[in-house]
Amino acid sequence: MYFLVYIVYLVLAGLLFGIAVALHRRPGSVPPGPTGWPFIGNILDLRTPQPWITFAEWSARWGNIMQIDLLGQPLVIVGSHKTAVDMLERKTSMYSDRPRLTFMGRLVGWDRLTALLPYGPRWRETRRLFTPALGSRASVVAFEPIMNVQITRFLPRIMKSPDNIVDQVVRTVAGTTLMIVYGYNLREDDNTFVDIARAAMPEFSSGFLPGAYLVDLLPILKYVPSWMPGSGWKKLVKTWKHDLNTLLDTPYEYVKEEIANGSTFPSFVSLCLGDSPDAEREELVKTAASSLYIGAVDSTSSAVTTFFHAMAKHPEVQKKAQEEIDRAVGTDRLPLLQDRHRLPYIDAIISEVLRWKPAVPLGMPHRLEQDDVHEGFYLREGSIVVANIWQMLHDSDTYAEPEVFNPERFIASEKREAEMDPRTIIWGFGRRSCPGLYLADTCIFLAVVQILAAFKITTQDGGNIQDSDYTTGIISHPGPAQCTASPRSAKAEALIRSVSLD
Ligand code: HEM
Repeated sequence: MYFLVYIVYLVLAGLLFGIAVALHRRPGSVPPGPTGWPFIGNILDLRTPQPWITFAEWSARWGNIMQIDLLGQPLVIVGSHKTAVDMLERKTSMYSDRPRLTFMGRLVGWDRLTALLPYGPRWRETRRLFTPALGSRASVVAFEPIMNVQITRFLPRIMKSPDNIVDQVVRTVAGTTLMIVYGYNLREDDNTFVDIARAAMPEFSSGFLPGAYLVDLLPILKYVPSWMPGSGWKKLVKTWKHDLNTLLDTPYEYVKEEIANGSTFPSFVSLCLGDSPDAEREELVKTAASSLYIGAVDSTSSAVTTFFHAMAKHPEVQKKAQEEIDRAVGTDRLPLLQDRHRLPYIDAIISEVLRWKPAVPLGMPHRLEQDDVHEGFYLREGSIVVANIWQMLHDSDTYAEPEVFNPERFIASEKREAEMDPRTIIWGFGRRSCPGLYLADTCIFLAVVQILAAFKITTQDGGNIQDSDYTTGIISHPGPAQCTASPRSAKAEALIRSVSLD
């Protein structure tokens, strides 16, 4: 009798065990990917100058959802636009978090800024602050007068230093953003706020790349003493923290002083602060403002510099664009935003610049907040998910001869439809997608159209700009400009000279 009871107990235990195993079994297989080394996984594979190109090569073998291992941390790489939309947009509530980065986040403090904020109430509050000013094309049109003044100043600067184009581009984008975000009018001999951005930009860009610092994957390393070999990153913490705090505090304190003196120019900060902000509101507005400033300058400058390279490399495209401007606007004035609808070829050039060398080639990493099964693959909670924007924009099923710079691809003809607008890809996906898209697009249009109206861009060395010249990091920049610019006519020179720098 007892024997039978034991048998029943054993069968029940077996059943329960079976149910438990079934519940915990992975409902799909882990995505494929290159095999890594024991323990360290694929960390060494990431030490490549342009990981987006390496990932695209892997994707040809492993498919559009790949997974690699970084010391036990899964990194999922998405290579197709459709998968990115299905995963990061359709399931956005699961995929909108950001990786917790020990080095640049917790230790340096970048996790106070929007791009690194965890998905939650604080992030939502920040994004809500952005909407009235930046949330639509119409809201950005309100900044047109500011953008016109700031971007037109670009022209005399280029004429004065035609061999120093990258610096002038950064200055112009910084000047425009400083005016919109802080109401700060950047004067010619004033470098303070521009240098602040210049210091922080490469730090943000290099530190946010997945696997950039070992301590992000093994947080225990933060306790390693500074004298130990391999702990050089600890010395960086102090400098980076200083650079970040300067970025956060200096322009913000400027607005507060202006408000106190009753002389403030209406700006994102002054409008968001309102009458008597408490400390919490101040921190929110200060961090949101820096997020906009740094987010705008680095990425937009990269796109405008790429435009210079593309024009130097393709004089025939430049000539056609200038003919369009001369036809639609004439040569007596500089083009404005309201001319845009009459300049389809200029728009096609901008689309091609954004597609050809995307400024944010891997987007910004997302973090999966709960286990998911996608296209039959099991993706673990906490996985870092990266969308290979570069690969999507160089997919030969979407873009004919993707390596070729060809603005015509965006102009429909009787024979063929226009190819997909890269703006459906370059701003990222889901709720974390770029809040500055309308501002960036407008700023790039004004810079491109005014440069083309005023200058002839030529190369210094045959225009042989290689892929390898683009820097690594979350934001990728062309190397030093190998081009120069000179007024394209006496009339253009007179227009440039008429621009006031005050
Ligand atoms: C060519 C110009 C630009 C490009 C290509 C670009 C692209 C991107 C991309 C791909 C992301 C990540 C989206 C994701 O996680 O899926 C992003 C995020 C962000 N961008 Fe931009 N961006 C540009 C300009 C700007 C401008 C002008 C601003 C500010 C005015 C800005 C502010 C930000 C901020 C604050 C985030 C973080 C959003 C969040 O985490 O919620 N960006 N951008």
